[in-house]
Amino acid sequence: MEREQLKSDIQRLRREKNAVILAHYYTEPDIQDIADFVGDSLALAQSAARTEADIIVMCGVHFMGETCKILCPDKKVVVPDLEAGCSLSDSCRAADLRAFIDEHPGYKVISYVNTTAEVKALSDVVVTSSNARRVVDSYPKDEKLIFGPDKNLGAYINSITGRDMLLWNGGCHVHGRFSLQAILALKAEHPGAKVLVHPECPAAIQAVADEIGSTAGLLKYSVECPAREFIVATESGILHKMQQASPDKTFYPAPPEMTESIGCSCNECIYMRLNTLDKLYRALLNETPEIVVAPDVSEKAMKPIRKMLELSK
Ligand code: 13P
Ligand code: SF4
Repeated sequence: MEREQLKSDIQRLRREKNAVILAHYYTEPDIQDIADFVGDSLALAQSAARTEADIIVMCGVHFMGETCKILCPDKKVVVPDLEAGCSLSDSCRAADLRAFIDEHPGYKVISYVNTTAEVKALSDVVVTSSNARRVVDSYPKDEKLIFGPDKNLGAYINSITGRDMLLWNGGCHVHGRFSLQAILALKAEHPGAKVLVHPECPAAIQAVADEIGSTAGLLKYSVECPAREFIVATESGILHKMQQASPDKTFYPAPPEMTESIGCSCNECIYMRLNTLDKLYRALLNETPEIVVAPDVSEKAMKPIRKMLELSK
């Protein structure tokens, strides 16, 4: 179907079905442009928690759909592609976390939102990269904490809070593969450019950052900073909103290490990119594939998510 026809059919179905389309900054530009709301992981959860729509179409990855469903158990939550997973979420299986918790009695468990509902159900509180510092700071200094699954975000929070949280050894395949050498070469070509880095990147990449933050935090910085050029070390989908917000500035995607499987000079999340306009249209039309979370898991996972939302007000 023609793109323009798809877009107008999506608009019509959204109105007819009282559906809301939420999208993460890492989705393709057409999806961001048609969404009712585009945001980072925290803003998407906040948006889901307050929506009055009957159907939520979550254009992002599976754990984002689960978070919507847990927050809105009575609504229908659909996603364009059920296969849109997350390598970070995959790096922490609930059974392994359960065993780790049992080995460390007396520890509170802080889980990144990039986790399955089952992992959240084992956690005391959930965080995103926007609020991780604030949530960690809400615990007394001598509280024993486990942080997972992203080891880079955990190490970053340890470094800025002076904590010694036990870190899960997980990571994201996108943020883990930026090339320091290529970023430095780009910086040498554009010495005035500010380097923007997501905290899921390794410490060596964080070390050359002018700003470290969540996708929303980096977008805000790019708008407020008077610099004209930016090198962006996070999934390249965010450049779309950055460019829209600052049309007169120049944004360079930080290059990944080149491997046979990555032929381009930008860094895309294969899972986020499974969201397409065509699949979004079909998800709205057929109201599938639907996100389902077992009620007992949902009930347990709701508490740490709600706690995070309370701490983020
Ligand atoms: P934020 O949207 O919280 O910055 O997280 C990035 C990410 O990797 C989402 O999967
Ligand atoms: Fe997961 Fe990384 Fe993709 Fe985000 S960018 S959804 S953390 S694999």
